[in-house]
Amino acid sequence: MAGKLGGKVSKSSFREFGYQEVNLVQDCPLLKNLETNKSAIKTWTSHGDRVESIPENFSIFASSSNAPIAGMMDLEKKYFGLQFHPEVTHTEFGKEIIENFVNDICRCPKIWLAENIIKDHIEKIKRTVGSEKVLLGLSGGVDSSVVAVLLNEAIGDQLTCVFVDNGLLRLNEGDAVVDMFNKNLGVKVIRVDAQDKFFTALSGVDDPEQKRKIIGKTFIDVFNREASKIKNVHWLAQGTIYPDVIESADSSTGKAHVIKSHHNVGGLPKDMKLKLIEPLRNLFKDEVRKIGIELGLNQKIVNRHPFPGPGLGVRILGEVHKEYADILRKADAVFIEELERQGLYDQVSQAFAVFLPVRSVGVMGDGRSYDYVIALRAVETVDFMTAKWSKLPFEFLDYVSTRIMNEVSGVSRVTYDISSKPPSTIEWE
Ligand code: XMP
Repeated sequence: MAGKLGGKVSKSSFREFGYQEVNLVQDCPLLKNLETNKSAIKTWTSHGDRVESIPENFSIFASSSNAPIAGMMDLEKKYFGLQFHPEVTHTEFGKEIIENFVNDICRCPKIWLAENIIKDHIEKIKRTVGSEKVLLGLSGGVDSSVVAVLLNEAIGDQLTCVFVDNGLLRLNEGDAVVDMFNKNLGVKVIRVDAQDKFFTALSGVDDPEQKRKIIGKTFIDVFNREASKIKNVHWLAQGTIYPDVIESADSSTGKAHVIKSHHNVGGLPKDMKLKLIEPLRNLFKDEVRKIGIELGLNQKIVNRHPFPGPGLGVRILGEVHKEYADILRKADAVFIEELERQGLYDQVSQAFAVFLPVRSVGVMGDGRSYDYVIALRAVETVDFMTAKWSKLPFEFLDYVSTRIMNEVSGVSRVTYDISSKPPSTIEWE
Protein backbone atom coordinates (compact mmCIF):
# COMPACT_ATOMS: atom_id res chain seq x y z
CA MET A 1 0.00 0.00 0.00
CA ALA A 2 2.84 2.32 0.90
CA GLY A 3 4.62 1.60 -2.40
CA LYS A 4 1.53 2.03 -4.59
CA LEU A 5 0.27 5.20 -2.99
CA GLY A 6 3.47 7.25 -3.13
CA GLY A 7 5.36 6.22 -0.02
CA LYS A 8 8.69 4.43 -0.05
CA VAL A 9 9.53 0.79 0.70
CA SER A 10 13.05 -0.59 0.82
CA LYS A 11 15.04 -3.62 1.92
CA SER A 12 15.91 -3.34 5.56
CA SER A 13 19.25 -4.42 6.94
CA PHE A 14 17.35 -5.35 10.12
CA ARG A 15 14.89 -8.04 9.23
CA GLU A 16 12.14 -8.88 11.69
CA PHE A 17 11.19 -12.53 12.08
CA GLY A 18 9.21 -13.86 15.02
CA TYR A 19 8.46 -12.01 18.23
CA GLN A 20 8.56 -8.20 18.09
CA GLU A 21 7.30 -5.57 20.50
CA VAL A 22 5.29 -2.89 18.71
CA ASN A 23 4.59 0.52 20.28
CA LEU A 24 1.13 1.97 19.81
CA VAL A 25 1.83 5.65 19.21
CA GLN A 26 -1.59 6.99 18.24
CA ASP A 27 -5.27 6.01 18.60
CA CYS A 28 -6.53 3.96 15.69
CA PRO A 29 -9.90 2.27 15.02
CA LEU A 30 -8.02 -1.02 14.54
CA LEU A 31 -6.82 -0.81 18.14
CA LYS A 32 -10.21 -0.01 19.71
CA ASN A 33 -11.11 -1.78 22.98
CA LEU A 34 -7.95 -3.85 23.15
CA GLU A 35 -8.37 -4.13 26.91
CA THR A 36 -4.77 -3.20 27.45
CA ASN A 37 -3.47 -0.21 29.28
CA LYS A 38 -0.02 -0.87 27.90
CA SER A 39 1.26 1.24 25.06
CA ALA A 40 2.99 -1.73 23.45
CA ILE A 41 1.82 -5.16 22.27
CA LYS A 42 3.65 -8.39 21.54
CA THR A 43 3.39 -9.25 17.88
CA TRP A 44 4.59 -11.87 15.40
CA THR A 45 6.46 -10.54 12.37
CA SER A 46 7.98 -11.95 9.20
CA HIS A 47 9.48 -9.37 6.84
CA GLY A 48 12.74 -8.20 5.33
CA ASP A 49 11.43 -4.95 3.82
CA ARG A 50 10.29 -1.87 5.63
CA VAL A 51 8.28 1.24 4.90
CA GLU A 52 10.67 4.22 4.80
CA SER A 53 8.09 6.93 4.24
CA ILE A 54 4.31 6.98 4.28
CA PRO A 55 2.06 8.19 1.45
CA GLU A 56 0.35 11.57 1.63
CA ASN A 57 -2.55 11.86 4.13
CA PHE A 58 -1.36 8.76 6.03
CA SER A 59 -0.25 8.82 9.66
CA ILE A 60 1.69 6.33 11.76
CA PHE A 61 -0.06 4.58 14.66
CA ALA A 62 2.42 1.78 15.46
CA SER A 63 6.19 1.42 15.37
CA SER A 64 8.86 -1.05 16.40
CA SER A 65 12.61 -0.65 16.78
CA ASN A 66 13.44 -2.02 13.33
CA ALA A 67 10.27 -0.93 11.60
CA PRO A 68 9.50 2.66 12.66
CA ILE A 69 6.40 2.44 10.44
CA ALA A 70 4.73 -0.74 11.74
CA GLY A 71 1.18 0.58 11.36
CA MET A 72 -0.15 3.34 9.13
CA MET A 73 -3.60 4.68 8.24
CA ASP A 74 -5.52 7.08 6.07
CA LEU A 75 -8.57 7.67 8.25
CA GLU A 76 -10.56 9.47 5.59
CA LYS A 77 -10.22 6.70 3.01
CA LYS A 78 -10.21 4.02 5.72
CA TYR A 79 -6.94 2.49 4.53
CA PHE A 80 -4.95 0.60 7.15
CA GLY A 81 -1.62 -1.15 6.88
CA LEU A 82 0.19 -3.35 9.41
CA GLN A 83 3.75 -4.61 9.32
CA PHE A 84 3.01 -7.45 11.75
CA HIS A 85 0.68 -10.46 11.50
CA PRO A 86 -2.58 -10.11 13.47
CA GLU A 87 -3.81 -13.49 12.17
CA VAL A 88 -1.11 -15.46 13.98
CA THR A 89 -2.09 -16.88 17.38
CA HIS A 90 1.10 -15.53 18.98
CA THR A 91 0.18 -11.90 18.23
CA GLU A 92 -1.38 -10.31 21.29
CA PHE A 93 -4.88 -8.93 20.52
CA GLY A 94 -4.59 -10.12 16.91
CA LYS A 95 -8.15 -11.46 16.95
CA GLU A 96 -9.49 -8.17 18.32
CA ILE A 97 -7.60 -6.20 15.65
CA ILE A 98 -9.13 -8.33 12.91
CA GLU A 99 -12.58 -8.03 14.53
CA ASN A 100 -12.26 -4.26 14.65
CA PHE A 101 -11.36 -4.25 10.97
CA VAL A 102 -14.02 -6.68 9.78
CA ASN A 103 -16.92 -5.69 12.02
CA ASP A 104 -16.40 -1.96 12.69
CA ILE A 105 -14.43 -0.66 9.76
CA CYS A 106 -15.76 -2.87 6.95
CA ARG A 107 -19.15 -3.17 8.70
CA CYS A 108 -19.45 -6.88 8.02
CA PRO A 109 -21.98 -8.32 10.46
CA LYS A 110 -21.02 -11.24 12.69
CA ILE A 111 -22.99 -13.92 10.93
CA TRP A 112 -20.50 -16.79 10.89
CA LEU A 113 -21.96 -18.16 14.11
CA ALA A 114 -22.66 -21.75 15.10
CA GLU A 115 -26.44 -21.37 14.78
CA ASN A 116 -26.14 -19.90 11.25
CA ILE A 117 -23.60 -22.46 10.15
CA ILE A 118 -25.99 -25.17 11.36
CA LYS A 119 -28.94 -23.59 9.57
CA ASP A 120 -26.98 -23.27 6.32
CA HIS A 121 -25.69 -26.82 6.55
CA ILE A 122 -29.09 -28.31 7.34
CA GLU A 123 -30.61 -26.59 4.32
CA LYS A 124 -27.76 -27.69 2.12
CA ILE A 125 -27.95 -31.30 3.33
CA LYS A 126 -31.70 -31.39 2.68
CA ARG A 127 -31.21 -29.96 -0.82
CA THR A 128 -28.40 -32.37 -1.65
CA VAL A 129 -29.87 -35.53 -0.25
CA GLY A 130 -33.58 -35.04 -0.96
CA SER A 131 -35.47 -38.10 0.16
CA GLU A 132 -32.56 -40.51 -0.33
CA LYS A 133 -31.00 -42.46 2.50
CA VAL A 134 -27.58 -41.75 4.00
CA LEU A 135 -25.09 -44.04 5.71
CA LEU A 136 -22.60 -42.51 8.11
CA GLY A 137 -19.41 -44.03 9.40
CA LEU A 138 -19.67 -43.13 13.04
CA SER A 139 -16.37 -43.40 14.90
CA GLY A 140 -17.35 -41.60 18.10
CA GLY A 141 -14.76 -38.89 17.53
CA VAL A 142 -15.78 -35.25 17.47
CA ASP A 143 -16.05 -34.97 13.70
CA SER A 144 -18.23 -37.95 12.89
CA SER A 145 -20.31 -37.34 16.04
CA VAL A 146 -21.06 -33.80 14.90
CA VAL A 147 -21.92 -35.07 11.42
CA ALA A 148 -24.28 -37.62 13.03
CA VAL A 149 -26.22 -35.04 15.05
CA LEU A 150 -26.23 -32.59 12.15
CA LEU A 151 -27.58 -35.20 9.72
CA ASN A 152 -30.03 -36.45 12.32
CA GLU A 153 -31.32 -32.90 12.69
CA ALA A 154 -31.55 -32.44 8.90
CA ILE A 155 -32.93 -35.76 7.69
CA GLY A 156 -33.83 -37.79 10.82
CA ASP A 157 -34.87 -41.30 9.84
CA GLN A 158 -33.16 -41.21 6.47
CA LEU A 159 -29.86 -41.53 8.34
CA THR A 160 -28.37 -44.84 9.43
CA CYS A 161 -25.09 -44.73 11.27
CA VAL A 162 -22.72 -47.61 11.00
CA PHE A 163 -20.20 -48.07 13.73
CA VAL A 164 -17.40 -50.36 12.61
CA ASP A 165 -15.48 -52.13 15.31
CA ASN A 166 -12.17 -52.59 13.49
CA GLY A 167 -10.35 -53.96 16.55
CA LEU A 168 -8.22 -50.81 16.62
CA LEU A 169 -10.41 -48.79 18.97
CA ARG A 170 -9.68 -47.50 22.44
CA LEU A 171 -10.77 -49.45 25.54
CA ASN A 172 -14.58 -49.95 25.77
CA GLU A 173 -15.06 -47.40 23.01
CA GLY A 174 -17.57 -49.44 21.04
CA ASP A 175 -20.07 -49.80 23.89
CA ALA A 176 -19.74 -46.17 24.89
CA VAL A 177 -20.41 -44.82 21.39
CA VAL A 178 -23.34 -47.08 20.61
CA ASP A 179 -24.95 -46.37 24.00
CA MET A 180 -24.63 -42.64 23.68
CA PHE A 181 -26.01 -42.30 20.18
CA ASN A 182 -28.71 -44.95 20.39
CA LYS A 183 -29.94 -44.31 23.92
CA ASN A 184 -29.20 -40.64 24.53
CA LEU A 185 -29.52 -39.03 21.13
CA GLY A 186 -32.02 -41.27 19.37
CA VAL A 187 -29.77 -41.79 16.36
CA LYS A 188 -30.09 -45.09 14.47
CA VAL A 189 -26.78 -46.98 14.88
CA ILE A 190 -25.79 -50.39 13.53
CA ARG A 191 -22.73 -51.92 15.13
CA VAL A 192 -20.59 -54.14 12.90
CA ASP A 193 -17.95 -56.38 14.39
CA ALA A 194 -15.30 -56.51 11.66
CA GLN A 195 -12.25 -57.05 13.88
CA ASP A 196 -11.16 -60.30 12.23
CA LYS A 197 -11.48 -58.84 8.76
CA PHE A 198 -9.17 -55.94 9.65
CA PHE A 199 -6.58 -58.06 11.45
CA THR A 200 -6.51 -60.53 8.56
CA ALA A 201 -6.14 -57.76 5.98
CA LEU A 202 -3.29 -56.21 7.98
CA SER A 203 -1.44 -59.43 8.54
CA GLY A 204 2.18 -59.27 7.37
CA VAL A 205 2.02 -55.56 6.51
CA ASP A 206 4.38 -53.16 8.27
CA ASP A 207 4.52 -50.07 6.04
CA PRO A 208 2.54 -47.18 7.61
CA GLU A 209 1.05 -45.84 4.38
CA GLN A 210 0.10 -49.31 3.21
CA LYS A 211 -1.54 -50.00 6.59
CA ARG A 212 -3.57 -46.79 6.26
CA LYS A 213 -4.70 -47.75 2.76
CA ILE A 214 -5.67 -51.25 3.86
CA ILE A 215 -7.61 -49.94 6.86
CA GLY A 216 -9.31 -47.37 4.62
CA LYS A 217 -10.17 -49.94 1.98
CA THR A 218 -11.44 -52.52 4.48
CA PHE A 219 -13.56 -49.83 6.08
CA ILE A 220 -15.13 -48.97 2.72
CA ASP A 221 -15.72 -52.68 1.94
CA VAL A 222 -17.54 -53.13 5.23
CA PHE A 223 -19.61 -50.08 4.42
CA ASN A 224 -20.50 -51.27 0.98
CA ARG A 225 -21.61 -54.57 2.49
CA GLU A 226 -23.79 -52.76 5.05
CA ALA A 227 -25.12 -50.43 2.38
CA SER A 228 -26.23 -53.36 0.27
CA LYS A 229 -28.34 -54.62 3.19
CA ILE A 230 -30.30 -51.40 3.49
CA LYS A 231 -32.55 -50.60 0.54
CA ASN A 232 -32.11 -47.40 -1.45
CA VAL A 233 -29.03 -46.00 0.25
CA HIS A 234 -27.30 -43.54 -2.06
CA TRP A 235 -25.00 -41.55 0.20
CA LEU A 236 -22.00 -42.15 2.39
CA ALA A 237 -21.38 -39.37 4.92
CA GLN A 238 -17.97 -38.70 6.42
CA GLY A 239 -16.53 -36.43 9.09
CA THR A 240 -13.77 -34.96 6.92
CA ILE A 241 -12.79 -31.48 8.10
CA TYR A 242 -10.76 -28.77 6.39
CA PRO A 243 -7.32 -29.58 7.88
CA ASP A 244 -7.72 -33.19 6.59
CA VAL A 245 -8.30 -31.76 3.14
CA ILE A 246 -5.25 -29.50 3.32
CA GLU A 247 -2.89 -32.14 4.68
CA SER A 248 -4.01 -34.65 2.10
CA ALA A 249 -3.82 -32.27 -0.86
CA ASP A 250 -1.90 -34.22 -3.46
CA SER A 251 0.38 -33.18 -6.26
CA SER A 252 -2.60 -32.76 -8.60
CA THR A 253 -3.54 -29.60 -6.72
CA GLY A 254 0.10 -28.63 -6.26
CA LYS A 255 -0.79 -27.17 -2.89
CA ALA A 256 0.90 -29.41 -0.39
CA HIS A 257 2.87 -32.60 -0.13
CA VAL A 258 1.11 -35.72 1.01
CA ILE A 259 2.34 -35.81 4.57
CA LYS A 260 0.17 -38.75 5.53
CA SER A 261 -2.75 -39.96 3.50
CA HIS A 262 -5.75 -39.59 5.78
CA HIS A 263 -8.05 -42.44 5.05
CA ASN A 264 -11.21 -40.38 5.17
CA VAL A 265 -9.94 -38.31 2.26
CA GLY A 266 -7.76 -40.55 0.11
CA GLY A 267 -8.16 -44.22 -0.60
CA LEU A 268 -11.80 -44.21 -1.70
CA PRO A 269 -12.13 -46.75 -4.49
CA LYS A 270 -13.23 -45.36 -7.85
CA ASP A 271 -16.02 -47.91 -8.19
CA MET A 272 -17.58 -47.02 -4.84
CA LYS A 273 -21.30 -47.35 -5.24
CA LEU A 274 -22.21 -44.54 -2.84
CA LYS A 275 -22.04 -40.79 -3.42
CA LEU A 276 -19.99 -38.92 -0.83
CA ILE A 277 -21.32 -36.21 1.47
CA GLU A 278 -18.90 -34.39 3.79
CA PRO A 279 -20.79 -31.58 5.55
CA LEU A 280 -17.79 -30.41 7.63
CA ARG A 281 -15.34 -30.30 4.74
CA ASN A 282 -14.93 -26.52 4.89
CA LEU A 283 -14.80 -26.15 8.65
CA PHE A 284 -11.96 -25.93 11.15
CA LYS A 285 -11.96 -27.96 14.34
CA ASP A 286 -12.99 -25.10 16.63
CA GLU A 287 -16.00 -24.44 14.40
CA VAL A 288 -16.94 -28.11 14.43
CA ARG A 289 -16.74 -28.10 18.25
CA LYS A 290 -18.98 -25.02 18.53
CA ILE A 291 -21.53 -26.63 16.23
CA GLY A 292 -21.44 -29.83 18.30
CA ILE A 293 -22.17 -27.95 21.53
CA GLU A 294 -24.97 -25.97 19.86
CA LEU A 295 -26.50 -29.26 18.69
CA GLY A 296 -26.49 -30.67 22.21
CA LEU A 297 -23.55 -33.07 22.17
CA ASN A 298 -21.96 -33.41 25.58
CA GLN A 299 -18.76 -31.51 26.40
CA LYS A 300 -16.76 -34.68 26.93
CA ILE A 301 -17.32 -35.84 23.35
CA VAL A 302 -16.84 -32.39 21.89
CA ASN A 303 -13.63 -31.63 23.73
CA ARG A 304 -12.17 -35.05 23.19
CA HIS A 305 -8.71 -35.26 21.73
CA PRO A 306 -8.64 -36.23 18.06
CA PHE A 307 -8.25 -39.91 17.26
CA PRO A 308 -6.94 -40.90 13.83
CA GLY A 309 -9.19 -42.80 11.43
CA PRO A 310 -6.80 -45.79 11.29
CA GLY A 311 -6.93 -45.83 15.12
CA LEU A 312 -4.42 -47.95 16.99
CA GLY A 313 -3.28 -49.24 13.59
CA VAL A 314 -0.85 -46.31 13.34
CA ARG A 315 0.05 -46.47 17.02
CA ILE A 316 1.29 -50.04 16.82
CA LEU A 317 4.58 -49.69 14.99
CA GLY A 318 5.06 -52.15 12.17
CA GLU A 319 2.88 -55.22 11.89
CA VAL A 320 -0.44 -55.10 13.72
CA HIS A 321 -1.55 -57.99 15.95
CA LYS A 322 -4.58 -58.25 18.19
CA GLU A 323 -2.34 -59.09 21.13
CA TYR A 324 -0.49 -55.77 20.64
CA ALA A 325 -3.75 -53.82 20.30
CA ASP A 326 -5.03 -55.33 23.58
CA ILE A 327 -1.88 -54.28 25.45
CA LEU A 328 -1.89 -50.83 23.89
CA ARG A 329 -5.52 -50.01 24.66
CA LYS A 330 -5.06 -50.90 28.32
CA ALA A 331 -1.94 -48.73 28.64
CA ASP A 332 -3.63 -45.89 26.76
CA ALA A 333 -6.68 -46.06 29.03
CA VAL A 334 -4.49 -45.68 32.12
CA PHE A 335 -2.74 -42.64 30.64
CA ILE A 336 -5.98 -40.91 29.61
CA GLU A 337 -7.75 -41.79 32.87
CA GLU A 338 -4.92 -40.20 34.89
CA LEU A 339 -4.82 -37.11 32.67
CA GLU A 340 -8.54 -36.64 33.31
CA ARG A 341 -8.36 -37.45 37.01
CA GLN A 342 -5.47 -35.07 37.61
CA GLY A 343 -7.02 -32.22 35.60
CA LEU A 344 -4.43 -32.32 32.82
CA TYR A 345 -6.55 -33.64 29.95
CA ASP A 346 -7.68 -30.23 28.68
CA GLN A 347 -4.21 -28.77 29.03
CA VAL A 348 -2.85 -30.98 26.28
CA SER A 349 -4.20 -31.06 22.73
CA GLN A 350 -3.68 -34.76 22.13
CA ALA A 351 -2.34 -37.57 24.29
CA PHE A 352 -2.01 -41.28 23.67
CA ALA A 353 0.14 -44.34 24.10
CA VAL A 354 2.17 -46.01 21.34
CA PHE A 355 3.12 -49.67 21.17
CA LEU A 356 6.74 -50.44 20.26
CA PRO A 357 7.24 -54.05 19.23
CA VAL A 358 10.68 -54.22 20.78
CA ARG A 359 11.29 -56.33 23.81
CA SER A 360 13.35 -55.17 26.72
CA VAL A 361 14.42 -56.82 29.90
CA GLY A 362 12.90 -55.99 33.27
CA VAL A 363 12.55 -57.43 36.74
CA MET A 364 9.13 -58.22 38.11
CA GLY A 365 9.05 -59.70 41.60
CA ASP A 366 11.63 -62.47 41.70
CA GLY A 367 11.63 -63.02 38.00
CA ARG A 368 13.05 -61.55 34.86
CA SER A 369 10.61 -60.14 32.37
CA TYR A 370 11.20 -59.69 28.66
CA ASP A 371 8.33 -57.60 27.40
CA TYR A 372 7.27 -54.73 25.16
CA VAL A 373 7.76 -50.97 25.34
CA ILE A 374 5.02 -48.35 25.62
CA ALA A 375 5.77 -44.76 24.63
CA LEU A 376 3.56 -42.00 25.96
CA ARG A 377 2.96 -39.00 23.72
CA ALA A 378 1.32 -35.70 24.69
CA VAL A 379 1.44 -32.54 22.59
CA GLU A 380 0.25 -28.96 22.68
CA THR A 381 -0.92 -27.39 19.45
CA VAL A 382 -3.62 -25.19 18.00
CA ASP A 383 -3.78 -26.42 14.43
CA PHE A 384 -2.03 -29.84 14.60
CA MET A 385 0.25 -28.70 11.78
CA THR A 386 2.96 -27.83 14.29
CA ALA A 387 3.07 -29.05 17.87
CA LYS A 388 5.21 -28.90 21.01
CA TRP A 389 5.64 -31.88 23.29
CA SER A 390 3.91 -31.28 26.62
CA LYS A 391 5.99 -30.75 29.69
CA LEU A 392 3.81 -32.96 31.88
CA PRO A 393 4.94 -33.05 35.51
CA PHE A 394 7.52 -35.75 36.33
CA GLU A 395 5.43 -36.95 39.29
CA PHE A 396 2.51 -37.46 36.95
CA LEU A 397 4.59 -39.41 34.42
CA ASP A 398 6.08 -41.44 37.24
CA TYR A 399 2.62 -42.35 38.52
CA VAL A 400 1.30 -43.30 35.07
CA SER A 401 4.38 -45.41 34.36
CA THR A 402 4.00 -47.27 37.66
CA ARG A 403 0.31 -47.93 37.01
CA ILE A 404 0.97 -49.22 33.49
CA MET A 405 3.72 -51.58 34.70
CA ASN A 406 1.52 -52.87 37.50
CA GLU A 407 -1.72 -53.18 35.60
CA VAL A 408 -0.85 -54.04 32.02
CA SER A 409 0.88 -57.34 31.50
CA GLY A 410 3.21 -57.52 28.53
CA VAL A 411 4.91 -54.17 29.24
CA SER A 412 8.38 -53.93 30.77
CA ARG A 413 9.25 -50.32 29.98
CA VAL A 414 7.46 -46.98 29.61
CA THR A 415 9.04 -44.00 27.86
CA TYR A 416 7.94 -40.42 27.23
CA ASP A 417 8.27 -38.85 23.78
CA ILE A 418 9.99 -35.44 23.85
CA SER A 419 9.90 -34.63 20.13
CA SER A 420 8.07 -31.69 18.64
CA LYS A 421 6.44 -31.37 15.21
CA PRO A 422 8.33 -30.61 13.03
CA PRO A 423 10.61 -32.46 12.67
CA SER A 424 8.58 -35.35 14.14
CA THR A 425 4.88 -35.86 13.45
CA ILE A 426 2.33 -36.25 16.21
CA GLU A 427 1.55 -39.88 15.47
CA TRP A 428 4.50 -42.25 15.30
CA GLU A 429 3.45 -43.56 11.91
P1 XMP B 1 0.51 -36.10 12.37
O1 XMP B 1 0.93 -37.43 12.86
O2 XMP B 1 0.38 -36.01 10.87
O3 XMP B 1 -0.95 -35.87 12.95
O4 XMP B 1 1.36 -34.98 12.92
C1 XMP B 1 -1.67 -34.69 12.88
C2 XMP B 1 -3.07 -34.99 13.35
O5 XMP B 1 -3.71 -35.85 12.41
C3 XMP B 1 -4.09 -37.07 13.01
N1 XMP B 1 -3.82 -38.15 12.04
C4 XMP B 1 -4.76 -38.78 11.33
N2 XMP B 1 -6.10 -38.66 11.33
N3 XMP B 1 -6.24 -40.36 9.69
C5 XMP B 1 -6.84 -39.47 10.50
O6 XMP B 1 -8.06 -39.39 10.48
C6 XMP B 1 -4.89 -40.55 9.63
O7 XMP B 1 -4.39 -41.37 8.88
C7 XMP B 1 -4.12 -39.71 10.50
N4 XMP B 1 -2.79 -39.58 10.72
C8 XMP B 1 -2.63 -38.62 11.66
C9 XMP B 1 -3.24 -37.20 14.27
O8 XMP B 1 -3.88 -38.00 15.24
C10 XMP B 1 -3.11 -35.74 14.67
O9 XMP B 1 -4.23 -35.29 15.40
